[in-house]
Amino acid sequence: MEYEEIFKKYFPGLTPDNRVFCPYRVCPIGAHIDHQFGIVSGLAINEGIYLYYKARKEALVELHSMNFKGKIIFDVKQDFYINKNWGDYAKAAMNALFDQGYKLEKGFYGAVIGTLPIGGLASSSAVILAYIVVLSRINGISLGSKELIKMAYLAEHKFLGIHIGKLDQNCEIYCKKDYLLYFDTLDNRIVNIKKSEKMPSFRIGIFYSGKSRVLKDSAYNIRVSECNEAATVLKKYAGISWKGTTDNCLREVSKEIFEKYKTDMPDNLKKRAEHYFSETDRLEEGINAWKLGDINKFGHLIFESGDSSINYYESGSPELCKLHCIAKNTPGIWGGRFSGAGFKGCYMAIVDSRYTRQIGEYVTEKYLEVFPELRGKFSVHFCDTADGMTYL
Ligand code: GLA
Repeated sequence: MEYEEIFKKYFPGLTPDNRVFCPYRVCPIGAHIDHQFGIVSGLAINEGIYLYYKARKEALVELHSMNFKGKIIFDVKQDFYINKNWGDYAKAAMNALFDQGYKLEKGFYGAVIGTLPIGGLASSSAVILAYIVVLSRINGISLGSKELIKMAYLAEHKFLGIHIGKLDQNCEIYCKKDYLLYFDTLDNRIVNIKKSEKMPSFRIGIFYSGKSRVLKDSAYNIRVSECNEAATVLKKYAGISWKGTTDNCLREVSKEIFEKYKTDMPDNLKKRAEHYFSETDRLEEGINAWKLGDINKFGHLIFESGDSSINYYESGSPELCKLHCIAKNTPGIWGGRFSGAGFKGCYMAIVDSRYTRQIGEYVTEKYLEVFPELRGKFSVHFCDTADGMTYL
């Protein structure tokens, strides 16, 4: 069924005015360090969230989703509370606009379509960006990219209470097809680095583990606090002035300080910091490998990033960890890791375009040997890099 037909099915007799599309992203190297103001990399993919909409004169928003049951209805002038259901992403978007001084008068009929299963692809950020764009469009508000990103970040951080960094929104807006996004989350510097001509043709494999979990129900915030605590502890050991326990971040501490004091650190904090510093080094090496078109090296570093997420950041689920083991032994996969935070959801891999069919079959067979109950839920998708959201 055409996506527009899905809108018409939910809203018989209505035709959408328009649609917005926001791509998902994968993060090959630089995982879990954006909330510490680290340096990250990202690729947008040609799958994502469509929001088909028809503006209304009145303030009501009515939403349906292809991925979630039930209909959501709220008033953009007064329903600010968060309900703990899938409509909260729209509410958070509306709250962020309000927080930034924008008054909304008009609502819309909307149909949300996520083209891949949920988990690890930054669908929260994609859907929030889509809601902000639609709400601002129909209310005559014009937003620049920076403001849009700031609001999407606020929506998740302040209104949904997830202590995310700035990776997702920036990738979903600024990525470019065939370019790797290099993003310094401290000073917001972004460089898009073109794929080298020497790089063999690759595709991005997305392996959905068959189990989803949204970030707000995961250990995400606990890990962020541990990183902040690790920074505080290191500053104390080194005699550097420190702020409140939650206000220090690992970017403010040098690797030399970590090396000097790491044996004194509590085990969990030492591991989180180990991940931060090693991931930062891998990122720089990975960028060089990408520039040189050295896909073996680039892929190897992605695998190492995945190992570090498992061993030091301790974020994998049994299903994602299994996929990591399988991917490392699959001919034609250059590198792979959890595509996002790693609390269930999807695994991403850089794969040789010539062997996608064999890779899909091999991974599926090996995975279902271990998790036969996930047959029918586990899925494999091959995608390509894509441009960030076009929203004007
Ligand atoms: C989620 C968060 C991001 C980032 C990644 C892990 O996608 O929203 O800010 O921390 O996890 O790299």
